[in-house]
Amino acid sequence: NLYKEKFRGQFHFSPKRGWTNDPNGMVYYNGEYHLFFQHNPYGRGWGNMTWGHAVSKDLLHWEEVGDALHPDQSGPMFSGGAVIDEKNTSGLGSPGKPAMVAFYTGARSWAQCLAWSTDGRTFQKLDKPVLPRINKDNRDPKVIWHEPSKQWVMVLYVERDKGQHSIQFLTSPNLKNWTKVSSVNGGIGGDGYLFECPEFFELKIEGSNEKKWILTGANSEYAIGTFDGKVFKPEIEKLKGQQGRDFYAAQTFSNEPKGRRIEIGWWRTNTDREGMNFNQSMSIPLELKLESRAQGLRLTRMPVKELEGLRDKTYSFGKMKLGKGSANPLASVDIELAEIRLEFAPGTAKDVALNVRGVPVVYNAEKQQLTIDGVTAPAPLIKGKQRWIIYADRTGLEVFAGDGLLFMPVNINIKPENRTLSLSASGGTAAISDIKVYALKSIWH
Ligand code: FRU
Repeated sequence: NLYKEKFRGQFHFSPKRGWTNDPNGMVYYNGEYHLFFQHNPYGRGWGNMTWGHAVSKDLLHWEEVGDALHPDQSGPMFSGGAVIDEKNTSGLGSPGKPAMVAFYTGARSWAQCLAWSTDGRTFQKLDKPVLPRINKDNRDPKVIWHEPSKQWVMVLYVERDKGQHSIQFLTSPNLKNWTKVSSVNGGIGGDGYLFECPEFFELKIEGSNEKKWILTGANSEYAIGTFDGKVFKPEIEKLKGQQGRDFYAAQTFSNEPKGRRIEIGWWRTNTDREGMNFNQSMSIPLELKLESRAQGLRLTRMPVKELEGLRDKTYSFGKMKLGKGSANPLASVDIELAEIRLEFAPGTAKDVALNVRGVPVVYNAEKQQLTIDGVTAPAPLIKGKQRWIIYADRTGLEVFAGDGLLFMPVNINIKPENRTLSLSASGGTAAISDIKVYALKSIWH
C-alpha cells in the first residue's frame, strides 16, 4: 500500500520512506523536472542529510530514482540549487551534452561544494570545495546564469556577528571559481527576513516590458529590486510571500521549458504518526508572477496549470444569493481530494464561510480577512469580489485569494470520513457568482 498511506498527501510529493525537508537542485534537464530533497533515508526525523532525487515529466507525477548525494568527509549534504551548464563553462559536460551542476553545503566543513551529472541519474563530486567556509554559518548556495554579464551568480546565506542574516552575492565564469561581489543584510536573530535558503530570479512585470529582481529567504519574505551582475539594490523590502503555516525553504526551477518561474516549497505536514514510514512533504507547484497591484508591485502565486490534469468529477453551481436560512448549496458534494473555485461579492454579509471537509475557511467582510484553522491573513476585495482557489489533500489546504496575492497553505490532517463541503453567509446576504468543485485524482498509481 505504498503511497496510499492514511496520512500521505495524494497530490503532493513526499518521499517513499524517511524524512524530507527542503526542496533542492530544482532544474529541468533532458525532458524531466528534477526535484532533489533534503532526505533522511534512515528515519522519520531530520538527520543524515542526503539529497534524495525524484523526476517528473509533468510536475505532478513524481518518480523517486534513488538518492543522488550521500554524506561524506565534508559532512551531511545540506541544501542548494542546480543549473544546466549549457555552454560547458565548467568543462564538466561535453559538446551537445551539457552537465547538470548542483551546489550543496558540506555541513561539517561549512564549505560550498559541487557535484555534476551528465545522465540526470548518477553524480560525481568535485574533490575540492568550490568555496571554503566564510565566517559563521554559511549555507544554501543557489546559482543562476546572468545573461547580461555572461557569468554565473551565486546567492549564499551567511550569518554574520550578532545573528545578522545576510545574503552574499558571488560570481563565476566557470562554476568552479567564485568571487564575492556584494552582500545584503536581512533581519537579525528571530527576525527571519532573508534567513537561509535564498532564491534569486528576475521577472517581467506583467503587462509591461520592465523587469525586476526578486530575492527571497526561507520564510518567503522577499525584496524587489535591481541587479547589475554584482549588486542587488532592494527597492521594496520585507514583503510577505505567503501567509499560511509551515511553508518553508521554497526554490524555483532553473531552465523551465516554457520560461515560467515555478516554485515548490517544503510544506511541514503532521505525518509522523500511526506507523507512517515517511514524514513531511512538498507543496503543490506554484507559478510566480510579478504584478502591479493596488498595493504596489507584488509577487503573486497561483497553482500551476498542470494541476488541472488531476480533475476528475466536476460539480458546477450557478449564481445564487446566500444568507440567513439558506440551504447549503454544496450538499450534493461527496469528495476527498478536492479543488474548489469560488467567486463571490460579500454584499451585506458579515461572514462568508466555506467549510472544507471539516476545516472552516472564513471570510470576515468587515476586516477583509481570511481565517483558516486559527491562521488569519488580509484578503482585500478586488473590484468588490473575493476569488478563491482551494486545494484540499489529506495533509491540509492550500488556499489562493486575490488572484495570487494571498497564498495560505495550512497544514492540518483532514479526517478521511469527512467528505462534505458547505457554504454559508451570516449577518446579511452575499452574492455567489460562481462555484466549481473538482474531485481530484491521486498522483500515485
Ligand atoms: C532549512 C535548512 C537549511 C539547511 C537544511 C538542512 O530548512 O536548515 O538551511 O541547508 O535545512 O537540512
